Amino acid sequence: MSADFSKVANKADVPVGQVKVYTIAGKRIAVCNVEGKFFAVADLCTHDGGPLGEGELIENTIECPRHGARFDVATGAVVCMPAVVPIATYLCEVREDDLWIGVPASATK
Ligand code: FES
Repeated sequence: MSADFSKVANKADVPVGQVKVYTIAGKRIAVCNVEGKFFAVADLCTHDGGPLGEGELIENTIECPRHGARFDVATGAVVCMPAVVPIATYLCEVREDDLWIGVPASATK
């Protein structure tokens, strides 16, 4: 599946253990720094639309600030209820010092 990549930030803009939200191709995407590795997930909890980007990173998961569901930031899988549906994940690449996020071309049409 092809993806359209956009440069969103310098990697220093997302410090270790933090999450920053960017709007890319009309989608709000939360970029997570897990011990120097970057992941991109939807800023939208599948339980009740909570703003995941305002949640806390706990190891390799992000916790929804609304009711506490947790998702694996690499796969989007639910690791803690009350959510049961995985969140969307996006490609995230570091090119030199910049972060690039890839949104599938089919998702931007
Ligand atoms: S909206 Fe995220 S856990 Fe309920």
